[in-house]
Amino acid sequence: MSEETAPYGTGPAAGTATTPVKRVRTHHLREMKQRGEKITMLTAYEQYAAQTFDEAGIDVLLVGDSASNNVFGNETSLPVTVDELIPLVRAVTRSARRALVVADLPFGSYQASPEQAYLTGVRFMKEADAHSVKLEGGLAMVPQVRKLVEGGIPVMAHIGFTPQSEHTLGGYRVQGRGDAAKQVIEEARAMEEAGAFAVVMEMVPGDVAADVSAAIGIPTIGIGAGNRCDGQVLVWQDAFGLRTGRMAKFVKQYADVHAVLRDGARAYADDVRAGTFPGPEHTF
Ligand code: KIV
Repeated sequence: MSEETAPYGTGPAAGTATTPVKRVRTHHLREMKQRGEKITMLTAYEQYAAQTFDEAGIDVLLVGDSASNNVFGNETSLPVTVDELIPLVRAVTRSARRALVVADLPFGSYQASPEQAYLTGVRFMKEADAHSVKLEGGLAMVPQVRKLVEGGIPVMAHIGFTPQSEHTLGGYRVQGRGDAAKQVIEEARAMEEAGAFAVVMEMVPGDVAADVSAAIGIPTIGIGAGNRCDGQVLVWQDAFGLRTGRMAKFVKQYADVHAVLRDGARAYADDVRAGTFPGPEHTF
């Protein structure tokens, strides 16, 4: 491509590389659990994060409803809509060559009935090329999971603390302590029986999460659920420090992207103000 025709910011297109890459499928995750190999999962909401995490070998990319408070500027995950998430999911599926892409069903798009869940799932599969969907909730969501799976849509379940039910659960609180542990195990079993291919467990005591992981055949993916889950997931803006401020106890920060971007922006502004950018090498 000549310099005149190169669009701004164009990188290598994910789907056009010459080396074939084998896509991660739901059965691979199950086989990884059987082999005792940990599953890696991160959120992604757009092209370059998706390409970068895919290149790093992350197995599963979740286009979370956490886009609500990590992309769209809302305070919680509740306001984000299907119409807002679909273009993000499409960007991620177009950009990830290897990872399994999971589209999160947002609040209000599946709880009303199995039919509503199915129709929403179909939109993500047809309009965004999603490979699977995720929904929050335990026993009450069994009919939804069944309907989706019977209709050809792989489902990742999400139990323990479920952010869409923040107001019902009384805020961000650990779930499954004491006697409530039985309920978490029961929910995980019900999700497996309904046909889910994996279960996210959020903010559940480590011992309980370990018991759940041993009790079911499908992989468990933990977030704030200790290291005896079959895999782990984090929101990337938390894990790599794009977001600043108070973090949940379960977040480990692996990079300081905020500082890199801030310092880059300051250096750029300094150069522009001093008239040293663009230099002769950037000038036609
Ligand atoms: O939306 C999201 O990012 C999630 C993860 C926290 C699992 O559901």
